[in-house]
Order: sequence, then structure tokens, then C-alpha cells
Amino acid sequence: MPVPVYQLAFRHLFTRMDPERAHHLVVAGLRWAHRCGAGVLLEKITAPDPALRTEALGLTFPSPFGLAAGFDKGAFSVLPLAALGFGHIEIGTVTAQAQPGNPAPRLVRLVKDRALINRMGFNNDGAGAARRRLERTAERITRLKRAGRHTPVVGVNIGKTKIVPLEGAVDDYLHSASTLAPVADYLVVNVSSPNTPGLRQLQDIEALRPLLRAVGDEADAAAGRHVPLLVKISPDLADADVDAVADLVTEMRLDGIIATNTTISRQGLRSPEDEVAAAGAGGLSGPVLSERSKEVLVRLRSRLPEHVTVISVGGVVSAEDVSERLRLGATLVQGYTAFVYEGPLWAHRINKGLKRIRRLTAV
Ligand SMILES: Cc1cc2nc3c(=O)[nH]c(=O)nc-3n(C[C@H](O)[C@H](O)[C@H](O)COP(=O)(O)O)c2cc1C
Repeated sequence: MPVPVYQLAFRHLFTRMDPERAHHLVVAGLRWAHRCGAGVLLEKITAPDPALRTEALGLTFPSPFGLAAGFDKGAFSVLPLAALGFGHIEIGTVTAQAQPGNPAPRLVRLVKDRALINRMGFNNDGAGAARRRLERTAERITRLKRAGRHTPVVGVNIGKTKIVPLEGAVDDYLHSASTLAPVADYLVVNVSSPNTPGLRQLQDIEALRPLLRAVGDEADAAAGRHVPLLVKISPDLADADVDAVADLVTEMRLDGIIATNTTISRQGLRSPEDEVAAAGAGGLSGPVLSERSKEVLVRLRSRLPEHVTVISVGGVVSAEDVSERLRLGATLVQGYTAFVYEGPLWAHRINKGLKRIRRLTAV
């Protein structure tokens, strides 16, 4: 699909629809096209160039650029999404128990800022259902690998079930970890969504240490191998707290950190104040997040041992943005919001751009 087609559809169709409905429509179209065999054709164009292969977490990523958590919460569309050129797909956030999330409307576009505000609240059908889909996906990935086709790394992001009180959080995460670690290439403990009351308190070191230790042990035992474990943090942490998480990750020999989730700040927006106010509560994402996301990246990189993986996410739009994050010390880079504004060829354009930038800088 040429770029202008998506831009036209976005301007004249999607912006007139509820953003969550538009999301479901696009994903349904993608899955339908994949079932009809479009994936094979698409992949011929979009499969990342071998020069982009990146070693991290003991795995080979076909590209350093992947899809952030939240887009495919239940692992419904891993392969159709991978066929667009993403090097990895992080599914989730998955919770131990199925839950409906917050009432709609819960996703709002701020078009002038090419941003989103979401208060989805971890809507998903629970760890058991996600596991069954991931098992089927893993079988398909094995077949595709044998045929020499493009396959993604699949990360699984877990969070706390809303109705479980904070005191029960460890057991709740443990249920998800034991259910999902066997089907995860890497596991992420999400303690940074602003849409589950109290969740971000789990970023306090005294709460985070026992949580990460228990999840790490459980994941490895359930999978019968070491499952790389990362923690995803908020851009709203004070600098001293970012440092404290980095020190904890070093002390615990964790595999990495994902920085950052969405922000509750509304600073730096160009959209009219009344539009922002009308959007309501939730996490803000998109280019407005970029500066803080880069600050956190630089802080983490300067504090962490070199072998610790840092996945940078927040406000990435172009290949230049991805390249800058890698220069600043990110091991891998993710994005979500710009996918909504840029359309299905976004990852492909980033991969092409990265290859061009590498060729130029190699000269
Ligand atoms: C609609 C929406 C839903 C999201 N859901 C999740 C989620 O379930 N778990 C999570 O860790 N991050 C979630 N995120 C955050 C993204 O993974 C990412 O960290 C953030 O949006 C910043 O990146 P971006 O500016 O490229 O979108 C969500 C973001 C959006 C826009």
C-alpha cells in the first residue's frame, strides 16, 4: 500500500472514527490480508536487510527496531505484524486474570502533536488465553524459520490484575510469569503504566527488588531455561529514582530495562488546551515524549554495565530517531504511536532508512 493511501485513509476515514475502532479495523484488515497470503508477498519487500541483524539478550533480532507493548495486547497478530518488518513484537500487557479495562472512550488522538492519550487499563483476556495463542504462534515461527523466512523475536510484557491489591501483586505477577515464560523470548515486568491504580508504586526499590527476584526465579523454573528479564519504567520517575532502578538491575544481574512508558505530564503539547483537557486522564505518548525518553536513556546508559540491554521507546518517528537512540546507547528501539500516524509501511521505512544511514556513516 503506497504511503499516500494510508495518509488519505487516516485523514478522511480514521480521524472520523473512534480511535479504538479504527485500531481494530486496521488490525482486522492486516490479519485478513495475512490469511489471504499477502504476508509472503509483503515480506519480500519488508523483511529487514541482514545487515540490520542485532544480537541482544542472547537472541538474534532481525532489526534493532520493534513494536512496543500495547498494540497487540493478547498476541492475536504477531505474524501479520512481523510481516510489516518489525524485528520484534512485544505483546501485552497481559495480566494473570482476564479483565475488561477502563470504560470507553479510552483512547484519544491529539493530531496536531501526532500524539495519543490512552487509559486502556490493561484490557486483555488473561495469561492462559495469551499462552495458547503464543504456543500456536511459536509452532508457525518454527516452520517459517525452517523455510528461511523472516521471523520476529517475541517479547511478553506482564502487569498486575486491577482487582488484585498491591499486597498480592507478587503472586499475581508470578502466575503470569509461570504461564507465559515458556512461550516468551524475553519477559518484561511492567510497573510503569499510569492506568492501573497504584501500579507505579511498584517502581519503589523496596517493592521492586522482591518482585523482580520472584518473577525471575519463577520464569526460569517454568521455562527450564534462562528467560531474559527486563523491567519497564516510567518517564515520570525522578532522575534519582531512574538511577536507583539502574543500580538495582546491576545488583540483581537483570538483563535489561525498557525506557519509557507513557507520561502523565501534559507539558510541551501544541494542541489547544481545551482539546487536551477534553481528552481526560491517561498516559501521553508520541514525539512530545522524545526529550525525556532520551534523557532517561542517556542516564541509564551511563550508569549500567555495557552488557545490560537498554530498549529505548518514546516518541520515535523516523529512521534518524532510531539511529540517534542507538548512538545514545540503546541496544534496541521500539515505537507505537507513530505507527498509528505513519501506517503499515512505517517499520519498513525505518529499516530502509537505517540501512541508508549505516551505509553513509560507514563511508
Ligand atoms: C494505546 C496504547 C496502549 C499502550 N499499552 C501499553 C501496555 O499495555 N503495556 C505497556 O508496557 N505499554 C503500553 N503502552 C506504551 C507503549 O508501549 C510505549 O511505551 C509508549 O507509548 C511510548 O512510545 P511511543 O511514543 O512510540 O508510543 C501503550 C501505548 C499506547 C499508545
